[in-house]
Amino acid sequence: MKETLNYIQENKQRYVDELFELLKIASISADPAYKEDVLRCADQVSKFLKDAGADDVEVCETAGYPIVFGQKIIDKNLPTVLMYGHYDVQPPDPLELWDKPPFEPYIKKTDIHPEGAIFARGSADDKGQFFMHIKAFEAMMKTDTLPCNVKFIFEGEEEVGSKSLEAFVKDNTEKLSCDVILISDTHIYSNDQPTVTTGLRGLSYVEVEVEGPNRDLHSGLYGGAVPNPIHVLSRMIANLIDEDGHITVDGFYDNVETVSDAERADMNKLKDDPEHFKKSIGLNGVEGEKGYTTLERTSIRPTLDCNGIWGGYIGEGAKTVIPSKAFAKISMRLVPYQTPDEITEKFTKYFEKIAPANVKVKVNPHHGGMPYVLPSDTKEFLAAKTAMETAFGKEVLPYRSGGSIPITAMFEQVLKAKSVLMGFGLDSDAIHSPNEHYGLFNFYKGIESIPLFFESYTKK
Ligand code: BES
Ligand code: MN
Ligand code: MN
Repeated sequence: MKETLNYIQENKQRYVDELFELLKIASISADPAYKEDVLRCADQVSKFLKDAGADDVEVCETAGYPIVFGQKIIDKNLPTVLMYGHYDVQPPDPLELWDKPPFEPYIKKTDIHPEGAIFARGSADDKGQFFMHIKAFEAMMKTDTLPCNVKFIFEGEEEVGSKSLEAFVKDNTEKLSCDVILISDTHIYSNDQPTVTTGLRGLSYVEVEVEGPNRDLHSGLYGGAVPNPIHVLSRMIANLIDEDGHITVDGFYDNVETVSDAERADMNKLKDDPEHFKKSIGLNGVEGEKGYTTLERTSIRPTLDCNGIWGGYIGEGAKTVIPSKAFAKISMRLVPYQTPDEITEKFTKYFEKIAPANVKVKVNPHHGGMPYVLPSDTKEFLAAKTAMETAFGKEVLPYRSGGSIPITAMFEQVLKAKSVLMGFGLDSDAIHSPNEHYGLFNFYKGIESIPLFFESYTKK
């Protein structure tokens, strides 16, 4: 192991330079205008995989963006680790809020990252993180210390719901067969308190529409006498959560997992620092479901948020109008044992029920995803914990995250393997936001932790 870690140490600077090549590619999956860049990014990833020493590297076509595959099989009788990541990124807008252009990576020191952080869209989510897998693999190959088989799949549609991945996995169960899946696409609690992610929330996502009058109306001639869809929609949304922070949708909590007092005590060992939390996002007070800490509200409890609302006139100047329609996008984060189908159905029924009789409402479901939990007494969790404890020289705690990676549940179902969520970002990395960044400390700790994971996972 020592030689592997030495190799990583000696090649640190080159790793960052190579990562910059990936970060310069605007692989925005949501916007068709960037199709060529997404495809170019897949090719670049496949080149890096080949250079690192992987065999059978392929850019596999799908109905959407390609999936990059590669592997190194050293002995069929040894276990296989499948590494997953995504090379697509979120759109960078609003561009004017970036200090420098999103696809021109640079390094800058910050309070949290005194060693410097890499600023660019995708630096933490997920290019900087899956690139650690490729480089850790390279280090094991070069020092002849790879202890088992590895496979890689990197997809280009994670940020738009992984539409092609499920079919690909189902059609290629033999090719992807493995004992464990390693994913670095989450964050640790802090650089002083490393954690292994033991849970992710699921997701149910809907778009709603409220229709009032059959056309836009003059607000002087009709105002005061007709339902204004914007007002109606706003009232309906406001009523989805009560004063105690409970979601009012009928039956919403029916299947919610009751987390044991022991596990709650365990997770609250992570020092909740409310002052830091508030300061970091510019608030002077938090809110949420009564009876739960911020840590619990953002991990073991389901939530509902309006993500966007529009309708009527939003252009320059004034236009006196009552719009015919108003719209909103609403996301719900789910916990075990809620399912997206169940929650979308309950939401739809409830939304239709609370609509006043003088408007029409429509609910259009989008993609969803199942929650995922990796119990902290599993071999997979313990291997990650041991690896990170060695890399960080600190005790590692389990941490349930509030984000979603829907494919983890699908992997378990189809490949019958558990996913280990060994991500190294921080919640302050501004993923999906302007000035996304990834700490150099985190990048290097991640590269070191991966060979250590291979070692502890394969040790009898
Ligand atoms: N990597 C994130 C998810 C994440 C980040 C989980 C940090 C835990 C900690 C992933 O790329 C993502 O953005 N997921 C989406 C869901 C997806 C279906 C679009 C999310 O969580 O909103
Ligand atoms: Mn991600
Ligand atoms: Mn993301």
